[in-house]
This record gives sequence, structure tokens and C-alpha cells, in this order.
Amino acid sequence: MNKLKKAIIPAAGLGTRFLPITKVIPKPMLSVLDKPTIQYIIEELKDADIEEIIVVVSPNSDIIKNHFGKNEQLEQRLLSDGKQSLYEIAKETYKPNIKFVVQETANGLAGAILCAEPYVKDQPFALLLGDELLVADKGQKSCMKKLTEIYENTGKSVIATMEVFGDDVSKYGNLGIGNEQDGVMTVTDILEKPSVNEALSNNAIIGRYVISGEVMQLLKTLKPHGNEIYLTDALEHLAKKGQLLATCIEDDRYDVGDKFGYIRANVEMALKSKEIGEETKEYIKNLAKTL
Ligand code: UTP
Repeated sequence: MNKLKKAIIPAAGLGTRFLPITKVIPKPMLSVLDKPTIQYIIEELKDADIEEIIVVVSPNSDIIKNHFGKNEQLEQRLLSDGKQSLYEIAKETYKPNIKFVVQETANGLAGAILCAEPYVKDQPFALLLGDELLVADKGQKSCMKKLTEIYENTGKSVIATMEVFGDDVSKYGNLGIGNEQDGVMTVTDILEKPSVNEALSNNAIIGRYVISGEVMQLLKTLKPHGNEIYLTDALEHLAKKGQLLATCIEDDRYDVGDKFGYIRANVEMALKSKEIGEETKEYIKNLAKTL
């Protein structure tokens, strides 16, 4: 079996769609209810049993490192005040297994991946975009768990996809789809954000991947588009060789780096919350009457 051990979370983008908060706070630290998005992503990796995590950060973004570091004073205080459950919550965020690498210049997703090369070398890796939240139904496997299982059974790279329609097709990488078996599709081609007419299918690439080791070297050989190299160019290479798979994910997906995506994430997670779900529901019902 091909055991997947490593994961990269790029978290070094400029987040220009969410200024001014992203001037100092990286998008993956934007909070959905009481937790930063990146913490949900770390939990998704735990479900997939992947423990070697590399987070790519921008210069001066100690806030992410600090969140996953230890806060001795806070923990001691909660313990001495007898606030055991709050202590557990604070302790839970201490993740000494996470490694951080700095992307000095935000030159795109592929550039961020290349920064993690010293830790990944030629090994396969999971890639989880730091501003995308995927929530599986209760009792269901996480998206990353599903992708990991497909990779471990086939040894091929695999992309999570969702169906999108109308103008939304042009907002995402787009997949040409070949054979399908047991929910696993062969990818024949990839287009980066095509026009509606050019699109190969309704299958959009979402922010979860398992990528084979050869891609790291491949990225170095690609021709840039302006200053950026495209991950999709490397993935297209794999597709042409029949080495790229995709699977449809039906989880709730939120682009937390987009203002409306962020609001949806907070409202829907609040509705699901044990603590404030009921009052949120009442509030929304009453509010709706006034709209
Ligand atoms: P996006 O393209 O959504 O992020 O990257 P962005 O460029 O920060 O956002 P806008 O469009 O300006 O608002 C998806 C993920 O890749 C990371 C981002 O932090 C995000 O988690 N990323 C992007 C990097 O790590 N480095 C980059 O150079 C670009």
C-alpha cells in the first residue's frame, strides 16, 4: 500500500479579496465561529491520519505559529480556575508536529508548494488550501480521508471536485473526465478558469488534492504565466499520462477567503452549533420576517 504521510497547507497568500483584515491577519486565521479556518483543516488531516504537516506562511505571520504553539500561562490559569473543558480546548491547539516554511514573495500556489520541498522532497503529499473549509455530514469521512484512500489504493494523484454551473464554471480549474468507476474518475485534461464555452465539464477543482512526488520536480520545469507558474500545468502533465484521478465531494464547502463565503460559513456553522444553534435559528427566522 502507498501510505500518504505528508501534507502542505499554503497559507501565505495576500488575501486581497478580504482587505483590510488580511493586511495583518492571514486568511487561514479568519475565524469560523470560534476557530480559525486552518484549525478545521488540521482536524481534517487528523481524520485522514496524516501527521507530517507543513504550513507555508508569509514573512511576519507569527500569528499562525503562535496559534499552534503553547500558551503556558493561559493553560495554568484555566487549570487553577477549575475550567477543565476550556483548558482542553486551549491545549488541543498545541501542535508541535507542524513545520513552518516562509514564502518570501507571494508568487502563487505553485510557488508556495515549492517552498515546502525541503520537507517533502520526492514524496507524495496532500495539498489543502488554507482558506477553504470542507464540512462532511456527521458520521461521514472527511474529504481528505476519501482522497487519501483513493491514493493509497491506486498510487495515482487525485483531485477533489464539485459540480458547478453557469458563470461559476469560469471561477475554477476545470476537468475533462474519462472513465468512471465506483465514484473515481480518470482526468483526461485540465483547463485553468475557462470561459463557459471552453469548459470541458461541470467539474470544478476544489482545494483538496493528493499529489505524487514527481510533481515537485515538474513544477521547476514549467514555463511561468507572467510571474506565476501554474499547478494546473503540472497536473495536466499527469492527466495526459493517465496518472490523474478525481472524485466528487458532496461536503459543504466554504471559500472563507471570499466575503460571502465567510458569512455563509459562519451562519451555517452557527446553526449546527450545540451552544448557539437554537438561538441562531430563532434570530434568523425573525430577521427573515423583516427582509
Ligand atoms: P488564493 O489565490 O485564494 O489566495 O490562494 P490569495 O492570493 O491570498 O487571495 P486573493 O485572491 O488575493 O484574495 C489559495 C490558497 O493559497 C495560498 C493562500 O494563502 C490560500 O490559502 N497562497 C496563495 C499562498 O500560500 N501563496 C501564494 O503566493 C498564493
